[in-house]
Amino acid sequence: PLHIQLGEWAEIIVLAPLTANTLAKLVYGFADNLLTNTILASSCPILLAPAMNTDMWEQTAVQRNWQQVLTEKRYYGIHPGSGILACDRVGQGRMAEPKEIVTNIKSLLYTAGKRDLAGKKILISAGGTREHLDPVRFIGNPSTGKMGIALAQAALHRGANVTFVHSISGELLLSGVKIIEVVSAAQMQQAMLANFAEADIIVMSAAVADVKPAEYSSEKLPKRSLPNSLPLTPVPDIVAELGKLKQSHQYLIGFAAQTGDIVAPALEKLRVKNLDAIVANPIDREGAGFGSNTNQGIFLDAGGRQLDIPSCSKLEMAHHLWDFAISVISYQLSVQ
Ligand code: C5P
Repeated sequence: PLHIQLGEWAEIIVLAPLTANTLAKLVYGFADNLLTNTILASSCPILLAPAMNTDMWEQTAVQRNWQQVLTEKRYYGIHPGSGILACDRVGQGRMAEPKEIVTNIKSLLYTAGKRDLAGKKILISAGGTREHLDPVRFIGNPSTGKMGIALAQAALHRGANVTFVHSISGELLLSGVKIIEVVSAAQMQQAMLANFAEADIIVMSAAVADVKPAEYSSEKLPKRSLPNSLPLTPVPDIVAELGKLKQSHQYLIGFAAQTGDIVAPALEKLRVKNLDAIVANPIDREGAGFGSNTNQGIFLDAGGRQLDIPSCSKLEMAHHLWDFAISVISYQLSVQ
């Protein structure tokens, strides 16, 4: 019969848009149409992207069903956003953007439903910090945080509990993680320290500005009083500080954006900052680095392992990094 064939054939089932009615049927295991039949006759991951009128979405019954369905291992949800709804109203209940749905599908096809980071608490930093001179001017860098978002998305699908500290100025399409927004290195340092102790794995993918203006003016400086040269002062090296605080059960990963030779300076950073692993990232090559959707690099770890990752999507790279970290962590656990 068709529902058995479809259920066995599919590697992933995507319900986008998911209605309140179908959601309720999933919770109670109904099999009253081809869709619900197929779901019950399959075992692949199921991705849910609800879309409904705001009042419907906010109903206690709907919220209860949504929470309930996500406790089941094979279901993955993308929370609806806010925006114009099909009924012309503006509010919560708008289906997640297709771009975010496609990213989720790709990630789930990679994991095939495996949750090998289940129970792990993962703290990730992302984006470029901004060090303000006054309310409108700052020292910054072109980091868009895409690599960090990919790491969070991939970790989430692998079952981790993710805290995401970011200084991303654009739109952030990421649901299901605890999000802490910061601007400056000092704020990022505070947020990372506050969440560090309970984290099992920490990834510092943020591009932290190395310096900040020595003085900050809370009023916008008039053009004529802008100095010809700007005295600078260093910001804290956050990952180095975390490296000092690190306990033996914690695994700390850094990034090293490099031009030219990427391995030697990355290994030096790994050693000096007391990291467990580092991603050496060539930012002077086509299809890698700031803002790009693809990346390439070399994973290095404190045990001398080296893994070359040729150009691939940042999401794929994120999954490769989790594979790399997990293999070391499970090895460490087995020899302890
Ligand atoms: O020394 P460098 O800045 O190249 O080292 C890169 C690594 O250090 C990245 O993981 C980055 O997030 C982290 N870093 C930091 N605080 C700084 C500068 C860099 O945590 N002030």
